[in-house]
Amino acid sequence: SAYAPVPPIFAKMGLAYDDVLLLPNETDVIPSEVDTTTRLTREITMKVPVISAAMDTVTESDMAIAMARNGGIGVLHRNLSIDDQAAQVDVVKRSESGMITDPLTVNPEVSLADLDKLCGKFHISGLPVVDKENRLVGIITNRDMRFIPSDDYDRLKVKDVMTKDNLITGPANISKEDAHRLLAQHKVEKLPLIDESGKLAGLITVKDFVKTEQYPDATKDAQGRLRVAAGIGFLGDAWQRASALMEAGVDVLVVDTANGEARLALDMIRRLKSDSAFKDVQIIGGNIATRSGAQAMIDAGVDAVKIGVGPGSICTTRVVAGVGVPQLTAVYDAAQACKAAGIPCIADGGIHYSGDIAKALVAGADTVMLGGTLAGTEEAPGEKVLLHGKQYKLYRGMGSLGAMAPRGKKSYSKDRYSGRCHLKRKGGPEGVEGEVPYRGPLNAVLYQLIGGLHQSMFYVGAHNIGELHEKGRFIRITDAGLRESHPHDIVMTAEAPNYTGFHN
Ligand code: XMP
Repeated sequence: SAYAPVPPIFAKMGLAYDDVLLLPNETDVIPSEVDTTTRLTREITMKVPVISAAMDTVTESDMAIAMARNGGIGVLHRNLSIDDQAAQVDVVKRSESGMITDPLTVNPEVSLADLDKLCGKFHISGLPVVDKENRLVGIITNRDMRFIPSDDYDRLKVKDVMTKDNLITGPANISKEDAHRLLAQHKVEKLPLIDESGKLAGLITVKDFVKTEQYPDATKDAQGRLRVAAGIGFLGDAWQRASALMEAGVDVLVVDTANGEARLALDMIRRLKSDSAFKDVQIIGGNIATRSGAQAMIDAGVDAVKIGVGPGSICTTRVVAGVGVPQLTAVYDAAQACKAAGIPCIADGGIHYSGDIAKALVAGADTVMLGGTLAGTEEAPGEKVLLHGKQYKLYRGMGSLGAMAPRGKKSYSKDRYSGRCHLKRKGGPEGVEGEVPYRGPLNAVLYQLIGGLHQSMFYVGAHNIGELHEKGRFIRITDAGLRESHPHDIVMTAEAPNYTGFHN
């Protein structure tokens, strides 16, 4: 094969994103009118081909919500307890909805203090109040609480302040249009739905109508809820974790390991795919970096393959283990197997600029996964820190010491790098920790990244991702070509919103 153990001089050449550029073509494409719809997995499409990485400094529920609203998706990291990760799935799934079929409710005897905590956790402004038989007895919203001093929250109960007279409700099978009409007519924000036996059967909120208009590209499930993915491992309590996430309503599970060809990882994928309990959950497998690696994933039954061994900005696998494939070649080779099988693939890691997204897609990827590029956004976990007068946020590899051995806390991410954990001698870290510049809200960062992709599609002459796959052609460049590509012979005095400098 091309990778046979021949003397290095004859070994296959591997290329990185920086080694190539895309060729301009004749075009009638208008950048703002391109269609970037793509396949995430066998059964899920997205309007924007971007995924946020399953890393503890990148994706928790805030990021996952923002990613799905903007047309992509987030993969919740797994460096936390099963309960906490499942609770984050719940937060995303409850963040917006066409009709909420199992709304959160509150008992009339609950204190206002506890109600306040619940509303804060789920970012909601009020709840239907039900008795023990799940019959609606009132509704409590911001409006009922507005004039109550917070000092009284411990003393007062929901039943003392809820609205209980003239409740506006609808039948369980109400249409979207009728629901909207009722909300508008009565100037209320929440419409509880009641079934024939008088029990609460659902909830429609005005917020969800507004969100649908505000985020027309959002990635949603059949019930109008935002989609969310979550990372799992394949050792220890991984099966329990997968089951808890599935029960919380996760759309996609990512069997997330540094070496997807670990036999136990492939076994985990096979087991998930053959268990009917998981039939509504799509399974992504990774990471691999060769055509045969992708084939192993496909043979195990995955719904999408994730590609990348060592390209990430915080990765040290390639230096610590001497293993990896430069990412453009990895994507190209792995995508050959995926294309033949009709399975989408994800280019994970090493994307620094918007131009790299188009390069990854032309090489054969259907979507890209970003870590460092999104770690500086407001929605990424963690606080901003001030360094030399500039704001930064923490970004670290999931194989870094900090993520694998957090001080005074249990690590749940160690096994990503320890398919070899049955051996007595454990390996060292395969990632580093650092800070990335604070970049403001995610939608501004995504706007620039996707704007760049629109420009690429204009130059290539591609109206959609299918045409980008077909028409995109690379030219290889030299170090001189790379230097020529970046700003040169100038001292930059103003920052550009879509250029973060020559990475090193
Ligand atoms: P970027 O370049 O977007 O890469 O920051 C994010 C991807 O890097 C992978 N990852 C790691 N790889 N050691 C590694 O070798 C690590 O500690 C590590 N942590 C994350 C992961 O695939 C992620 O999506």
